[in-house]
Amino acid sequence: MMPPDVHEKYLHAGEITKKVKESSRALLHEGVTYVDLARHIESSIVELGGTWAFPVNISVNNVTAHYTPTIDDTGVFHRGDYVKVDLGAQVDGYIADTAYTVRVDSPDDDLVNASRDALMAAIDMVRPGVRTNEIGRVIDETIRGYGLKPIENLTGHGLDQYVQHGPPSIPNFDTGHGAPLEEGAVIAIEPFATDGGGRVVDDERCLIFKYLGDRPVRLPLARQVLATIRREYPALPFAQRWLSEVYTRRKTEFALKYLVRSSCVYAFNVLKEVDGGSVSQTEHSMIVTKDGAEVYT
Ligand code: CO
Repeated sequence: MMPPDVHEKYLHAGEITKKVKESSRALLHEGVTYVDLARHIESSIVELGGTWAFPVNISVNNVTAHYTPTIDDTGVFHRGDYVKVDLGAQVDGYIADTAYTVRVDSPDDDLVNASRDALMAAIDMVRPGVRTNEIGRVIDETIRGYGLKPIENLTGHGLDQYVQHGPPSIPNFDTGHGAPLEEGAVIAIEPFATDGGGRVVDDERCLIFKYLGDRPVRLPLARQVLATIRREYPALPFAQRWLSEVYTRRKTEFALKYLVRSSCVYAFNVLKEVDGGSVSQTEHSMIVTKDGAEVYT
């Protein structure tokens, strides 16, 4: 069973994400810049007594995940854009991970509803003993009911203290076999729906990174940036934008490339839909209880 103080921290992180989802949704209109939305979300998390768990992902249309604005990003929201906002807060490392999709200044349509309904159907399935692929089957069926496809190579995941993507992985279709859910497990379920081919591929851009460990680094600038990363972001992912505020974008990009090549830092490629299809995403974090799920985001 989960100790009461740990439970409390998950709920606290979740409360923060609920408020930030609401305020960011109210801000998300035509003409707003990606940077303004990102700054609002990340600073609100801190103002509410939490810490970010990862840079906010703001992925538009066929961009599916791992996009976070650069410090000088020129991105602006346009009417009808499918904007996926995936945000995370943590309290002492206990993470709330959640996402919603907005069609900017336009009513929700099948694409938006498909991932949301799939998540609700998946949550209804959650209880100890249910296998992850059975959850995937329901997600797949719900999305296909709209004449759309799930993204097959993105999955939900387990959460643990300072672990953003742990076991079990929760597929968005029936993989044929899966681990049974255990009482007390903390999981995030995140269906993605698309009118494209149903798969993501790497884009060449990398805007989110994670510290791996120290290796010998010759370049003085890279050594300096690595020291900042080790001190500020030892466990959870960070944004190129955050380091750019200290080192400028040019120097940050240069140092990060060097650190990735030296295996000190891992780079997450931006992910885009294989056929350029539009994508929606909805995500909640939850604790598996004796007879269901306690959704806390
Ligand atoms: Co997640």
